[in-house]
Amino acid sequence: MFLAEIKMGISYPSNPGLSTGGIAGIAVAVVAGLLLLVGYFGFYRKKKVEKFRLSTASEDPSSRDHGGTLLKDEESSVVATPRLTGITVDKSVEFSLDELAKATNDFNISFKIGQGGFGAVYYAELRGEKAAIKKMDMQASKEFLAELKVLTNVHHLNLVRLIGYCVEDSLFLVYEYIENGNLSEHLRGSGRPPLSWSTRVQVALDSARGLEYIHEHTVPVYIHRDIKSANILIDKNYRGKVADFGLTKLTEVGSTSLPTRLVGTFGYMPPEYAQYGDVSPKVDVYAFGVVLYELISAKDAIVRVNNSAAESKGLVGMFEEAFNEPDPVEGLSKLVDPRLGDDHPIDSVRKLAQLARACTLENPQLRPSMRSIVVALMTLSSSTGDWDVGSFFENHDMVNLMSGR
Ligand SMILES: Nc1ncnc2c1ncn2[C@@H]1O[C@H](COP(=O)(O)OP(=O)(O)O)[C@@H](O)[C@H]1O
Ligand SMILES: [Mg+2]
Repeated sequence: MFLAEIKMGISYPSNPGLSTGGIAGIAVAVVAGLLLLVGYFGFYRKKKVEKFRLSTASEDPSSRDHGGTLLKDEESSVVATPRLTGITVDKSVEFSLDELAKATNDFNISFKIGQGGFGAVYYAELRGEKAAIKKMDMQASKEFLAELKVLTNVHHLNLVRLIGYCVEDSLFLVYEYIENGNLSEHLRGSGRPPLSWSTRVQVALDSARGLEYIHEHTVPVYIHRDIKSANILIDKNYRGKVADFGLTKLTEVGSTSLPTRLVGTFGYMPPEYAQYGDVSPKVDVYAFGVVLYELISAKDAIVRVNNSAAESKGLVGMFEEAFNEPDPVEGLSKLVDPRLGDDHPIDSVRKLAQLARACTLENPQLRPSMRSIVVALMTLSSSTGDWDVGSFFENHDMVNLMSGR
């Protein structure tokens, strides 16, 4: 019954099979090749007039033998040879820099709607659709390609939709515009009314569904690696969408490769990842637990004690202290976002905090899967079914822990 419910409201990709992924993979590889050449020519020419063109016609297998050869034309711009035609970036449009610049008044500050670790984001109206354009440095090609690859492969109601891209001068990703910005702004930014308790639970459920989808229903499966409130967007109907796939990692089951660089955001990284670089979907589960604590408290993932940079406390630790108080409910009440006023049914708060606690357990194997989390949040949001947190976990130690045995 729960499975049927889980699938409700989820838009599966029209063709999740390997062929779509394969085509998108080839396309991304070609863009990667182009980027390498951008770097090459950029190094020798320093001028910023390179222009790349990637055809969106249907696939021509003969292109593979000669693909990737770039020629300079008379105007000293660089264009792909006609042999490159036939590569499709699935459902993504290639925009020209000219078009993006026109739509943003040359990336004027008044069009800027966001800033993250990898780029500035601008509002634009493109071809009749409201869009958000992320402008990234050429140095961020790894993140650009990761995001392009995931979002051309994976489509879901609770993941931000990519419209297109551009690789002239800088790297640009063009997304559907999400009207209400990111969750962090709603929790801590000034000038926004507080989110109601039921909206917070709904946003948690929406983002859990987005994450469940990339963990369990795509081929290959992905780990986001940078889940945090700034990377969860709120649409005009106050529904949540997961964004920013720049650090997303493809998981190969049974992969034994050594951990590479450590990426992510302090306060959201689980111990096994921060210490040993172990990457598994449970890295996202931990970060998601921190987001749940943020939804309850509206506090940052890392809280500066007495406003001092020298003394910091993690939100996970703060909630742990509350759970260990003689009266945990009273401890929890002290952490609830004051902007909620009376709008925080304490039983519901307690349940969400219990779920967050399970997500942030030190042992990754004891953390629930995103699938279990979706089920738990569905129960909480409908508030009809009986909440028995133990029944959502496969692991019996977990059940005992949650029920205090
Ligand atoms: N599609 C979008 N619609 C509206 N705002 C967006 C959109 N994408 C990003 N933003 C805003 O820009 C910020 C940075 O975007 P993000 O993709 O997280 O970039 P970065 O990789 O640099 O962190 C987000 O936190 C959000 O406020
Ligand atoms: Mg971000």
